[in-house]
Amino acid sequence: MNQVVRKAVVPAAGLGTRFLPATKATPKEMLPVVDKPAIQYVVEEAVAAGLTDLLFITGRSKRPLEDHFDRNFELEASLRRKDDQEKLALVTESTDLARIHYVRQGDPLGLGHAVLTAEDHIGNEPFAVMLGDDLIDPRDPILPAMMEARARFGGSVVCLMEVPLQAISLYGCAAVEGEPVDGLVRVTGLVEKPQPADAPSSYAVIGRYLLDPAVFAILARTEPDRGGEIQLTDALRVLATMSAEEGGGVHGVIFSGRRYDTGDRLSYLQANVVLASERDDLGPDFRDWLRGLVASWS
Ligand code: G1P
Repeated sequence: MNQVVRKAVVPAAGLGTRFLPATKATPKEMLPVVDKPAIQYVVEEAVAAGLTDLLFITGRSKRPLEDHFDRNFELEASLRRKDDQEKLALVTESTDLARIHYVRQGDPLGLGHAVLTAEDHIGNEPFAVMLGDDLIDPRDPILPAMMEARARFGGSVVCLMEVPLQAISLYGCAAVEGEPVDGLVRVTGLVEKPQPADAPSSYAVIGRYLLDPAVFAILARTEPDRGGEIQLTDALRVLATMSAEEGGGVHGVIFSGRRYDTGDRLSYLQANVVLASERDDLGPDFRDWLRGLVASWS
């Protein structure tokens, strides 16, 4: 139960249709947030939490992801010739971050299926699942609290965020037992994207999970939903009813920090503005300009 979590699975096979036409020929994970691809924030978050073995679940047209985390000899050689150490560091940074492995999902059968594709790589140990669309502000890390919860209770851990009830139909939603204690709550059930009237709570599941390997056997027998997708939420609902001896039990860690959905245009723009305005290098000039822009509206 106290096995250390070392590996993370990063599903990245989605088509990014919410962001067309930008994502017609560019993976959505490569869209920049300020000056870094969105996916690099996720990898940095994993590494900061001690997860150094990452498995990307990709699909066709995701080659730029592999290239981004690989060496770029030509660019490196050119920067070295110019002795531009600063830019060279920016280029090599993403290469040296972690050990990244890739597997293709094949059929686009949903998040549960993407996680199942990771089974051979993960084996029989607990692992994280990190969704690229969810950008957790680097100043508000949540994985360490999730790891503590796993060490305390075993089983699986989800990350929960309170959202307005009207927004719950965009998320998995957790039924919980009682009020949170120390930001932790026991999850008794989960439902994928319920209508507000059917939602058991206003706790939305956001894209960070610590899963017990027992999830694989459950995913393997989880039926696709009406849209033909195998939902991770459905497997978690089963885990929530299983005993600790069977690898069951689900706890929720309540997240109240800054988080952006980089797959959603409005939230993506907000992430760019917030993160740019708070940067030491760009921030002062950007904030001045922004103040002027806002003043010009009134
Ligand atoms: C997925 C999950 C959903 C979760 C969400 C978090 O949905 O299926 O349960 O709440 O990620 O971002 P998606 O946004 O991929 O439709």
